[in-house]
Amino acid sequence: MNSFSNLKYLICAALVFFFLIGCLKSNPNGKIEQGKKTILDPHSFAQTNSVLVKHLKLALEVNFSEQILKGWAEWIIGANTNDTLILDTRDLKISAVFLDNDSNLTPFSLGQKDSILGEALIIPIHKNTQKVKIVYQTSVQAAALQWLNPSQTKGKHLPFLYTQSQAILARSWIPCMDSPGIKFTYDAEIKVPANLMALMSAENDTALHSNGVYHFSMPYPIPSYLMALAVGNLQYKSLGKNCGVYSEPETIKEAAYEFADMEKMVDAASSLYGPYVWGKYDVVVMPPSFPFGGMENPRLTFATPTIITHDRSLVALIAHELAHSWSGNLVTNKIWDDFWLNEGFTVYFENRIMENLYGKEYADMHEIIGYGELKKALHDMGETNPNTALKQNLKGMDPDNAVNDIAYEKGRFFLLHIEKTVGRAKWDAFLKEYFAHYQFQSISTEDFLVFLNEKIICGNQELASKINAKAWIHEAGLPANFPTTNSKLLDEAKQTALTFSKGEPAISESTINWHTFQWLHFLRNLPKKLTATQLTNLDHYFHFTTSNNSEILCDWFQLVIQNNYKPAYPAMEKFLTTVGRRKFIQPLYTLMKTTGQTELALKIYKNAKPGYHQVSSHTIDQILVSE
Ligand code: BES
Ligand code: ZN
Repeated sequence: MNSFSNLKYLICAALVFFFLIGCLKSNPNGKIEQGKKTILDPHSFAQTNSVLVKHLKLALEVNFSEQILKGWAEWIIGANTNDTLILDTRDLKISAVFLDNDSNLTPFSLGQKDSILGEALIIPIHKNTQKVKIVYQTSVQAAALQWLNPSQTKGKHLPFLYTQSQAILARSWIPCMDSPGIKFTYDAEIKVPANLMALMSAENDTALHSNGVYHFSMPYPIPSYLMALAVGNLQYKSLGKNCGVYSEPETIKEAAYEFADMEKMVDAASSLYGPYVWGKYDVVVMPPSFPFGGMENPRLTFATPTIITHDRSLVALIAHELAHSWSGNLVTNKIWDDFWLNEGFTVYFENRIMENLYGKEYADMHEIIGYGELKKALHDMGETNPNTALKQNLKGMDPDNAVNDIAYEKGRFFLLHIEKTVGRAKWDAFLKEYFAHYQFQSISTEDFLVFLNEKIICGNQELASKINAKAWIHEAGLPANFPTTNSKLLDEAKQTALTFSKGEPAISESTINWHTFQWLHFLRNLPKKLTATQLTNLDHYFHFTTSNNSEILCDWFQLVIQNNYKPAYPAMEKFLTTVGRRKFIQPLYTLMKTTGQTELALKIYKNAKPGYHQVSSHTIDQILVSE
């Protein structure tokens, strides 16, 4: 919605608008010159000029009854060699824009709407403009926001709101340069109903404010995809000198028990790759609809409640999100094509933290399970599929649809391969230097390669060909020279699966103490086709259907669907209608569709959809609704 104060502004804005459209057309890749470097971000309109922002002041009121955020965002301009500021927006209702002070209303226009990218907000500015304030509100369909009714929370009597900005959804709640290549600091004032607490990816208070007004400050530069807000009935519990957990009061005790090792994780991570620079490290437990396992919002990881299993068996997820405090939050992928720099490094780092805390046997299992997931992704996508290269080409695609195990697991195995080639000591020293060198910057795959050449390869051709970076980064599939490992614990699980498939009961005393990874390995090594008796026996011996471990349930339900094991369907339906984590629900809906159970899938989805975040429902729509 455009608002102009008078005709003069209107004409002026129209001229600027047409001029810009001309520029955008002649520059369809969004190719820009930034300093000397040419940077391409195909997922942001904002990089098409040379104005850079350095700080955001945000003031928003959270309106639960209308399900909107309303207020303003003021951008402090850093560098300006242009006369137009372009910001990304999606479904925002902009009511006014001011330059430098609140009496200086200025015209603006919106670019053509793109179904993935949203709309460019085009604001003519001057060479000496220092601040641009945008007064706006979000729309009810804002893609980053999920508004939950009290009934969708644990406590059932107060509503909940959370954001999910990664990859390109920040623009649906903040007009911003929504590219991971652009970093800024921020402070914010958020007003919420007096009985709710507001938290952000920033310095947070630990107590409820009776006036409902919260102030936040993030003094270190972060990209827009790490902007985050959660509002709900939340309580805090400290877990040591520098960390703690927020959750609804009903689950705070369980959460504190589950995450008891958090401080040790922070210590292990810092001793590996340099100091934790963000101040505190806290986790907030989300409602079950949260579409991811975890999201590494700085200082405040958002985590799914599905990792609360009462036996601490899924805490690797916390190690993962914590590791992002270095890989991702400190050193950030420049564009989403370089996503493996965020996730591959993080999976590698996550397992180093886990090894430090829980030992090599654990880390070996983590590695083998990851390897299995990589092989499956390669099989499903096709070993020669160019999308299985680490460096992606996501132009024209929604980066959210390109999240798969390639970036995570092929990325991890590439780094593990370098570790094994050069030795752990040298590799660790490299990583520590890498994080220190590039801290608070966004880098490309090519930047990483330059640093690798400079610090590790150093002109050694033999080493370069052993590492074979080009094949890992630009070629499909897996290079022949990748590292593998062994695990007695997983061998035992595999053997048990083989024994069971031969018709023997396979009850062994030792399964009582099995780790989640062993159960997953057991389930993944069973034949895809099982008889009704075998399924009944499995459930009878191991009680999968009533498991409270979501990872195990997800694998079990896949067998259930493939073999039409009806006794477990009510539990599967309950799982799908309470848990919104995309990684779990996506394979289940997909399998229902491919095994001729689309009608059932649609019926379940109809009930479940109102409880899913759009990130998940968008994916399930693509599976079930579009052909
Ligand atoms: N940053 C990701 C989640 C993400 C990726 C959101 C891409 C949007 C686009 C997060 O760190 C993550 O990887 N989560 C995993 C955790 C797992 C690998 C331990 C998840 O949610 O499953
Ligand atoms: Zn991650």
